[in-house]
Amino acid sequence: MKTRPEVLILRTITVGAVLFLTLAGCNQRQETTPKQASSVDSEGHQSWETIVEVLLHPRCLNCHQLEMPLINEGSPHIPRVERGADNMGAGTMRCINCHSNKNNPVTGAPGASGWEMAPITLNWSQMSSAQICKLLTTPQDNGDRSPESQLQFVSETPLALWGWSPGDKRQPVTISHAKLIEAMKEWIAAGTPCPPERSSD
Ligand code: HEC
Ligand code: HEC
Repeated sequence: MKTRPEVLILRTITVGAVLFLTLAGCNQRQETTPKQASSVDSEGHQSWETIVEVLLHPRCLNCHQLEMPLINEGSPHIPRVERGADNMGAGTMRCINCHSNKNNPVTGAPGASGWEMAPITLNWSQMSSAQICKLLTTPQDNGDRSPESQLQFVSETPLALWGWSPGDKRQPVTISHAKLIEAMKEWIAAGTPCPPERSSD
């Protein structure tokens, strides 16, 4: 059946009107968003990008794994070692057998006080940026760790500081420590905003 020309014209006008009204509506909503709030928010998002770049750096990621730590840019730890019940190694393969509180240039084993695998709740190795952000901002999921305690951890614990003096030929974390601390403070001040979760994440 053929559509009459008048009907076609009417339809075009209707679609056009709906489109116009929708666009006009969007425009209006954008204008009413307070300028300041949106700029603080985007600063918080920028800061998060800096933070997540550090969290995903091999110096940090190698311990924040599921069952086994990794070495270098993410290769298996040889000899094979496992987390064990207390995060300090299974059976006789205890972390402390080889890792002390400082880098050992003779054996090549890196070290810092408290050397052990990160708790399983902090295994963000397979997560997207949005998922890591959600984990860090959800105390029920991350072992009751607030953003403030995370800031304190990366500011002063030997385990975190080690990432900037890893010894041997290991690459230190690329973002400077000062920049990370600044970014974390800004992110917290902005209300710890997270990137939106995409369906592909
Ligand atoms: C040798 C293993 C190891 C390395 C390397 C490591 N971590 Fe961790 N990380 C841990 C452990 C263990 C904990 C849990 C500490 C605790 O509960 O007291 C932890 C906890 C954390 C926490 C949560 C702190 C809190 O209690 O609120 C953050 C954030 C974190 N790590 C970031 C980093 C960053 C950033 C780096 C790299 C610069 C890094 N980690 C490198 C083992 C490691
Ligand atoms: C038998 C000795 C031994 C044991 C046990 C051991 N390690 Fe290691 N580990 C080493 C040596 C040696 C290296 C250096 C390897 C290299 O860089 O080629 C190393 C490297 C690492 C690295 C790599 C750091 C980096 O970013 O490159 C991590 C992380 C690590 N060990 C964590 C652990 C944890 C956690 C445990 C306990 C669950 C553990 N290791 C148990 C000997 C050991």
